[in-house]
Amino acid sequence: MLTDTFGRRFYYLRLSITDVCNFRCQYCLPDGYECDHDRDFLELPEISRLARCFASLGTEKIRITGGEPSLRKDLPEIIQACKQTQGIKTVALTTNGYKMPEHLPAWLDAGLDAINVSIDSLDANQFNLITGHNKFATVMKGVDMALAHGKTKVKVNTVLMRKLNGYALDQFLAWVKNTPVSLRFIELMQTGDNQTFFDEQHVSGSSIKATLLEQGWLPSLREKTAGPAQEFYHPDYQGTIGLIMPYSKDFCNSCNRLRVSSLGKLHLCLFSEQGLSLKDYLQSDDIEPLRQYIQSTMGDKKATHFLQERLTGATKHLSMLGG
Ligand code: 5AD
Ligand code: SF4
Repeated sequence: MLTDTFGRRFYYLRLSITDVCNFRCQYCLPDGYECDHDRDFLELPEISRLARCFASLGTEKIRITGGEPSLRKDLPEIIQACKQTQGIKTVALTTNGYKMPEHLPAWLDAGLDAINVSIDSLDANQFNLITGHNKFATVMKGVDMALAHGKTKVKVNTVLMRKLNGYALDQFLAWVKNTPVSLRFIELMQTGDNQTFFDEQHVSGSSIKATLLEQGWLPSLREKTAGPAQEFYHPDYQGTIGLIMPYSKDFCNSCNRLRVSSLGKLHLCLFSEQGLSLKDYLQSDDIEPLRQYIQSTMGDKKATHFLQERLTGATKHLSMLGG
């Protein structure tokens, strides 16, 4: 089992398979994706070995992220390879939803268990303004398809932004009332590239938490492979609400995840100073040297990120690492 010096156990791997994205979210890639390196992304055999190695170290859940992972044509094969790995119980995907209507059936056939879709506004014009793409209807269609399937967990990620959606809580709650979705508000995080935007738009999730509690929402219990969200449910609502508050005290105490970038670098934290390349180890079917290397890095995992001090590590934007 992978355990760090603070006794935290890592059941959960977030695996980025590309850093390319077709959206231009204002907090992430406001000018669109710019390629500044060779696209030497992990290939399927490397991903299979990585999954096998992490599973042998106790990983139970793999979330495939990007950039936008659906831009990779072999996404169904990647989902299948992760799902077929002994020890991996859950394969999840985080997507901007753009390709969902077209490709969701193939992802489900490949064994996808859960899907997170990023939707920062329920207003089509505002969605367009935030993402740079007039695709609100397409994304919502994808969400409806995933819900209709019935067997997949569907979550929606909404990044909280003071001026762009900070006023829209009632609209989100009205949606969740009759939609069995898990909607999670994420506090905007500062990255290397978004400092001015962050200063204008960051808002704490604590006022939403207070409103939910006032309106009769109740806290739910947390599963061991769960994300860092504080979850709330309400007897009159079909959906649930989660709050991801990376700026709150003790946020990192329950960290249960590690990250691997699309270039095959292990990141001990979303905001670490550097990634540790696994690429050479991934060239052989013998996973033992990789196992030993990953285990040897655990002592270097820090207790927390340093976002409160405005230190964002090497993370220029989350498209690099998939959040
Ligand atoms: N702060 C908070 N959330 C972010 N995401 C991307 N960039 C940021 C940021 N700077 C979100 C995406 C996606 C999830 C993986 O992370 O919207 O839903
Ligand atoms: Fe693309 Fe996600 Fe970044 Fe938006 S937040 S630009 S969808 S990687």
